[in-house]
Amino acid sequence: MSGRLWDKGEGVDRAMLRYTARDDWQLDQRLLPHDLRASVAHVRGLGRIGVLLPGEVDALVLALEELVRDAAAGAFVLTPDDEDGHTAIEAALVRRLGDVGRKVHTGRSRNDQVLVALRLYEREALADLAEAARFAALALCETAEREAMTPMPGYTHLQRAVPSSVGLWLSAVAEGLADARDHVQATRNLLDRSPLGAAAGYGVNLPLDRAGVAAELGFAGVADNPLASQSSRGIHEVAVLGAAWHVCAVLRRFAWDLSFFTTSEAAFVRLDPALMTGSSIMPHKRNPDLVELMRASCAVVQGASTELQTLVALPSGYHRDLQLTKAPLMRGLDEALATTRLVPRLVAGLVLDRAHMLAAVTPECFATDRAVDLAVAGVPFREAYRRVASEVGELGAGDARASLRARVSPGAPGALALDALRGRLEPSPPERRG
Ligand code: ARG
Repeated sequence: MSGRLWDKGEGVDRAMLRYTARDDWQLDQRLLPHDLRASVAHVRGLGRIGVLLPGEVDALVLALEELVRDAAAGAFVLTPDDEDGHTAIEAALVRRLGDVGRKVHTGRSRNDQVLVALRLYEREALADLAEAARFAALALCETAEREAMTPMPGYTHLQRAVPSSVGLWLSAVAEGLADARDHVQATRNLLDRSPLGAAAGYGVNLPLDRAGVAAELGFAGVADNPLASQSSRGIHEVAVLGAAWHVCAVLRRFAWDLSFFTTSEAAFVRLDPALMTGSSIMPHKRNPDLVELMRASCAVVQGASTELQTLVALPSGYHRDLQLTKAPLMRGLDEALATTRLVPRLVAGLVLDRAHMLAAVTPECFATDRAVDLAVAGVPFREAYRRVASEVGELGAGDARASLRARVSPGAPGALALDALRGRLEPSPPERRG
């Protein structure tokens, strides 16, 4: 007999098997701890409804826990001969326990098995991403606080517009990350219901203790409708990458700003030399490759999301197409996490040329202040605007710090609401755990 769960003793084409299994064994290696954890909960649930005897439950749980340890120690490694992780788990149980191992799959399908493993993996990955976004935002807040009164030009259309501050720029990125973190956490909540028990997508003729299994796995509840659970595959993954995209889109803008501000032309900011690469031919070059790849990481996540969106154009029920959702999901999450985790190091290493930034707050940057001042003195704003416009060439140097101090509505350069922002960046409550 082959190791295939669906082997009926008939011949199967090897090329077809290779084509359909693809790299699933590699991707499933990462799902293995989650699949094993869900298998323990499933087995205990079968025990509670009397489908497995207490001794069988104990033997299976013990063996599964051993496999968890083996997987963590690198001793339970999937190979191309394993069609997928689910097959490898059952085969390992049969090797250890014989017929008792052959009972583990009672009342479940690989369809709900992969669904629950994916949800557990995604919840963990999203918790990691939320935490990374939090640390990145806090690092930005720290520098923003120190540089709250460091003037720099504020730009619109990449043209100098009004006096701004380094603090405003960096805390804007931090607030963007706080929003993205909220999105990540909301997406985690979307995944907070257990699909285990959906079986092939239509339930099963057993009174499964789905609620008990869900609670053991740390889910808030059960995803009731089994076909809806099945249909969530792929759609939820698009939502997960949507949240990852949000984080990366904020960082892409920050990376773009840094690319601009570190040019020899702007020369406002320098990166830590340890974070720069060199050129193979131009001896003088120090290049901001890190920042450029941070900018590109959003494209990786977006590409993965597009791949998923294209894959999930399917009718109800399981389709093998769904197997191909795993690679883009993991690629996108890995990319977002790697990018976000580098941000604190990048921010800590920024070297500011404060004098150069101040010099770039040229007289025309004060034109708006001047028009507002006239309006406050009673000149109708449109009239004040025209008067200043006609004299722009004659505007003298302004006081950038005074201009910043005068912007006092909460969050504005003169009153950065960093405490409120830090309040949004409290650590999230500890995980529910079964
Ligand atoms: N590797 C498969 C996947 O990721 C597992 C589910 C297989 N189910 C099936 N009915 N062939 O989708």
